[in-house]
Amino acid sequence: MKTNIGITESNLQNTAALLNNILADEYVLYTKTRNYHWNVIGANFQELHKFFESQYDKLDEIIDDVAERVRSLGHWSLGTLKDMLKFARLNEDIQASSANEMLKNLLDDHETLIRILREDVNVVTDKYSDLGTADFLTGLMEDHEKMAWMLRSYIS
Ligand SMILES: [Fe+2]
Repeated sequence: MKTNIGITESNLQNTAALLNNILADEYVLYTKTRNYHWNVIGANFQELHKFFESQYDKLDEIIDDVAERVRSLGHWSLGTLKDMLKFARLNEDIQASSANEMLKNLLDDHETLIRILREDVNVVTDKYSDLGTADFLTGLMEDHEKMAWMLRSYIS
């Protein structure tokens, strides 16, 4: 059944595509954070092991919220790993051999996403007239700003 919420079909489609790109980025960041949770080594292993877990738990919630936002707009969310890699802008393959490199790499991804989200808030407001998604993306940006602060605080 068609979505009749006062936003044109083409604007809904564009917003859904924008959200699916974010979903893919979040998925890559989730996987990378989980990878580091498993593979981090060093004197502060236990602390970082737990810290990365708290971050991927938050990203797991975010992933679900973004996918369900796409569905709320009447479109299909991405759902395969192949598509996540295809549509993500973040790079999964950056090597990190030390805990500090892992922290810096994650921070860089969060900051990249914050810059994308800041731009996307303007795009969905000005071009697609979707204030609900603008509000949603603003909240998401704040979540990433908080996660970025925590990562930054570990880096000397
Ligand atoms: Fe675990």
